[in-house]
Amino acid sequence: MLEIRDLHVRYGGIQAVQGVSLSIARGSIVTLIGANGAGKSSIIRSIAGLNKTISGEIFFTRHDGEEPVSLRGLKPEDMVRKGISLSPEGRRILPHLSVEENLYLGAYSRKDKDEIAADLEWVYSLFPRLKERSWQKGGTLSGGEQQMLAVGRALMSRPDLLMLDEPSLGLAPLLVREIFEIIKRINAEGKTVLLVEQNAFAALSVAHYAYILEVGRVVLEGPGRELLENPKVKEAYLGG
Ligand SMILES: Nc1ncnc2c1ncn2[C@@H]1O[C@H](COP(=O)(O)OP(=O)(O)OP(=O)(O)O)[C@@H](O)[C@H]1O
Ligand SMILES: [Mg+2]
Repeated sequence: MLEIRDLHVRYGGIQAVQGVSLSIARGSIVTLIGANGAGKSSIIRSIAGLNKTISGEIFFTRHDGEEPVSLRGLKPEDMVRKGISLSPEGRRILPHLSVEENLYLGAYSRKDKDEIAADLEWVYSLFPRLKERSWQKGGTLSGGEQQMLAVGRALMSRPDLLMLDEPSLGLAPLLVREIFEIIKRINAEGKTVLLVEQNAFAALSVAHYAYILEVGRVVLEGPGRELLENPKVKEAYLGG
């Protein structure tokens, strides 16, 4: 569904991503694991059209059997129309708008009113807590609830590829488990998921395929379950 070839991302003098190639199969959960500063967000932001100083190619095929299209040079709003959506690091919800208004913002590029209403109900079924709090201002939600809202808002554009940048960041263990269960459910209901995580154990447990990044390069890749058993991964990312 998505293929990245030899991606480089630069910020001034800093080479944040140095020749990364990866692919995401339709219907799968793929995860990027790595330490702080490894380049995970830079990759995900490049796919979303948020990084300008990139080289390399990003190809996307929305439906099976279509010719891959290059995403180079497209704007973030084009990506949303193509079926790619991002729940960014650090939540970034609008604090003065209600939960429901925040969710509708995720659907801003759509005109299909009935389907938007159906998707809103779907998001509320995934996150009943958001439904209970639909009129509450986003900024007054707890951290975990804001994280749910960010994921829900990303779903409201009805993406084929949902990208989540550290959805479990700062959550209590119980809520971490809940958010990973919801990610599995979203995937089971037909969405392809690209997941960036610091919580390597949880991410590898749900991922069909994983890439381990170190200072802007892929150093290891394989099925999530296999990497969980890999001694190097255990040592460096799973606390031995
Ligand atoms: N806008 C920017 N300007 C300058 N340098 C940046 C910018 N964004 C990222 N970087 C640098 O690029 C490198 C990779 O950053 P990136 O955010 O991709 O890492 P990450 O793997 O997502 O880390 P984290 O786990 O901390 O979120 C880091 O060294 C970071 O300081
Ligand atoms: Mg990051």
